[in-house]
Amino acid sequence: MREGATTIQGKCRGVQYLGQIWGIMAKAHHIVFANEKGGTGKSTTAVHVAIALASRGARVACIDLDSRQRTLYRYLENRRDTMTRRKITLPMPVFEVFEHDSQATLERQVERLGAENDFLVFDTPGRDDPYARFVATRANTLVTPINDSFVDFDLIGQVDAENFKVRKLSFYAELIWDARKERAKADGVTIDWVVVRNRLHNMEAHNQQRMTDALNELSKRVGFRSVPGLNERVIYRELFPSGLTLIDKGHLGQLATAHIVARQELRELVTGLALPEVGQLALA
Ligand SMILES: Nc1ncnc2c1ncn2[C@@H]1O[C@H](COP(=O)(O)OP(=O)(O)O)[C@@H](O)[C@H]1O
Ligand SMILES: [Mg+2]
Repeated sequence: MREGATTIQGKCRGVQYLGQIWGIMAKAHHIVFANEKGGTGKSTTAVHVAIALASRGARVACIDLDSRQRTLYRYLENRRDTMTRRKITLPMPVFEVFEHDSQATLERQVERLGAENDFLVFDTPGRDDPYARFVATRANTLVTPINDSFVDFDLIGQVDAENFKVRKLSFYAELIWDARKERAKADGVTIDWVVVRNRLHNMEAHNQQRMTDALNELSKRVGFRSVPGLNERVIYRELFPSGLTLIDKGHLGQLATAHIVARQELRELVTGLALPEVGQLALA
């Protein structure tokens, strides 16, 4: 399924083989997309990051924990159907839904997919959910997309009505803060918490600056990084039925030339996440 992946996969297998000789287990890097609010771009960024990694030759598996909406799963299902309909091959992650049965089932699913892949990408529902919390505590990279709005910011912290200074951390920020401390104590891993600003808009320079200031202030208190994400673009909604992304250059028709900038912003998002190179994973 994963076309164009031969070189890096080949290298990766080599590293795994060396890992076996040295007794080192290959470990998948867990990227968890989470916040407790719907409509902030979790599924959209998750699917784009997963496909971007697969297109670079990484072995990627996605687990959709939002078993009701299944946006990530549906996107990739549409992509698989497009491959069949058009008789083409595209970079393609493995994708499954977690059906919310038990933590033991989830752990088995994670273990099975983790053994065969370089990255596990988790999409979670936009509400407090015990399984979303569970995967968040096991993340290597925890991505929280927020729209550039103080309504979404409220999820991480509250700002003063007069001067926009941060007044208070939210319950969610406290939760992640505690999870990171626990995780560092348990196995020495520091969860890299990245707040991704989604649906950025050129017309909103003033609001953007206020958000930048508030995020900078808050990031020092809670220990996340903030990176620019995807701009507001209709294309991110239009491509859903075909499951295509801006990366699928040869298959987009006229869209291909109109969206060079968008492709670049997607690349920058993946760079901003600072994920390990595939070859490093086995030794991580
Ligand atoms: N950068 C963007 N530009 C335009 N529309 C977007 C963008 N990001 C998300 N959307 C749209 O916003 C809605 C919510 O996004 P989604 O990824 O489903 O959020 P979540 O998973 O957090 O609920 C969807 O209709 C999606 O297509
Ligand atoms: Mg979603």
